[in-house]
Amino acid sequence: MRSPAWLYLDLLKKSILEELYVENELRLIYLRSCLDGQEKFSQQVFLDIRRHRPAMYDEYVKLREVGINYGRTIQNLGFQHTMIGRRRLENIESCLERVLADGIAGDCIECGVWRGGAVVFMRGFLAAHQVQERTVWVADSFQGLPAPTLKEDEGLDLTAARYPMLAIDLETVRDLFERYGLLDDQVRFLPGWFKDTLPSAPIRKLSLLRLDGDMYESTMDALNALYDKVAEGGFVIVDDYGVLPQCKRAVTEFREARGISDAIVEVDWTGAFWRKGR
Ligand SMILES: C[S@@+](CC[C@H](N)C(=O)[O-])C[C@H]1O[C@@H](n2cnc3c(N)ncnc32)[C@H](O)[C@@H]1O
Repeated sequence: MRSPAWLYLDLLKKSILEELYVENELRLIYLRSCLDGQEKFSQQVFLDIRRHRPAMYDEYVKLREVGINYGRTIQNLGFQHTMIGRRRLENIESCLERVLADGIAGDCIECGVWRGGAVVFMRGFLAAHQVQERTVWVADSFQGLPAPTLKEDEGLDLTAARYPMLAIDLETVRDLFERYGLLDDQVRFLPGWFKDTLPSAPIRKLSLLRLDGDMYESTMDALNALYDKVAEGGFVIVDDYGVLPQCKRAVTEFREARGISDAIVEVDWTGAFWRKGR
């Protein structure tokens, strides 16, 4: 029989990924195309959209599995509380399970949280396992990505001016924690650019460092500020390793400069992680 903690985390993932109400997203897309005059409204289609749009339904279910791909789906981000998809959410879960099983000390942080689903999940995981001595750090500008200034990021303009949907304010993220009943003193926010907030953040030790700032600069700033705080046996997760060469380059250069040889493990088409050697 499944434990209550397992059932809670399963439901939490389904909710964060918005897996339970895929039909509603399809209904809105359908209504919009009716409003645009592309098709005539039918109550039958509206009510039973899954049966009437099976390919689209499958596509949107798949999106929740694999996450959002900037290239293809950025314009239609849907209602998920995270863009990382189920496989990368489960990767967070399995890393945290190892952290607890092996008694690795330290807090958790995500650098680049967007709507906050991944950090909400981290807090939910700690709650489900009745962990009270660890903090979840929530680091973001809460105004989107910085303009590219380094040559390594040349051409990678993901600023709010171009992608307003990537700029989610602090109140929205705080509200998400509150809605899940997970906003408490085990959650701490670090609002501002990584280069300004991370070096002086009052973090003592990390068991999980999750990087999701897309750019070379954002990835490098976070690694420089936080890697030394990752405990031996702790995890470094890099969300954009496979999809953004700028991010991969920062990771590669950082690892080379530090002589890090811990194996990089692929999570899915973009996510990867390594475990800091013991
Ligand atoms: C791809 S989104 C993160 C997705 C998120 N992890 C999720 O679960 O859906 C990138 C986020 O990183 C933030 N970001 C990127 N570079 C940053 C920087 N240098 N300083 C602060 N925030 C940054 C952006 O504001 C944005 O919220």
